[in-house]
Amino acid sequence: MNTELERFREDGFLVVEDFNSAAECDALIARAAELTAGFDYDGHPSVFQTSEQERTSDEYFLASGDRISFFFEKDAFDARGRLKDDLFHSLNKIGHAMHDLDPVFDRFSRSPQMKRLAAALGLADALIIQSMYIFKHARIGGVVDLHQDATFLYTEPASCVGFWFALEDATVDNGCLWARPGGHRTSLRSWFRRSAAGGTEFVKFDETPLETDGMIPLEVKKGACVVLDGRLPHSSHPNTSGRSRQAYAIHTIDPKAYYPPENWLRRDFAGLAPI
Ligand code: FE2
Repeated sequence: MNTELERFREDGFLVVEDFNSAAECDALIARAAELTAGFDYDGHPSVFQTSEQERTSDEYFLASGDRISFFFEKDAFDARGRLKDDLFHSLNKIGHAMHDLDPVFDRFSRSPQMKRLAAALGLADALIIQSMYIFKHARIGGVVDLHQDATFLYTEPASCVGFWFALEDATVDNGCLWARPGGHRTSLRSWFRRSAAGGTEFVKFDETPLETDGMIPLEVKKGACVVLDGRLPHSSHPNTSGRSRQAYAIHTIDPKAYYPPENWLRRDFAGLAPI
């Protein structure tokens, strides 16, 4: 077994520093800004709309599996539903199919170094099912609660693996990832899925709270890649600093695993491609 695979299996995560060049990171940052500039958010369902907000946000979210969609920070709007800052600085993330729909994101997601790493981890055939561009802007970038990615990309057997790319330095004060080495050796607690009644729900498999003891900050430099086992509990704190912490993430699943139709994210599987 190679060292990368050994470490990944042991810890449930793997940090690869200097994975992408600064120029590759900057190209993705620039492309995200371009996509954002082309987003016409007037009348957008995620804009605050009192009682309608939850339902319309849900529909926009549930339809985003094969699109390029924009999601706001929860504190982005004032009481009258207007953005407090400019559009760019109000966004939480872009998702969930840039890797298939945008040539710049496609190149970054399927780079030569990604093909090498995927092969080293036995994931050469794994399909990229989702991509997310996370802004984590200065001061407004919100918390990501402790979770397991396999909750949101559920397969039987479990096969979800995440690749998280630091496009800027990630530190404790701007909201880096946190995880516990070996934390993946635990049960999957829940499944986030479409509810028969409409909307979404969490199905609980195990009521035991995810363990927070021993969590360490994964502080990494711009250009690093962090690979995450789908069962590894991880989180990130709000960005309280004056610097953004932009990151990009993709998630893969095993094409041979069962992907239930109740999963929130729907894709035409014929259109999915490996790394
Ligand atoms: Fe995650």
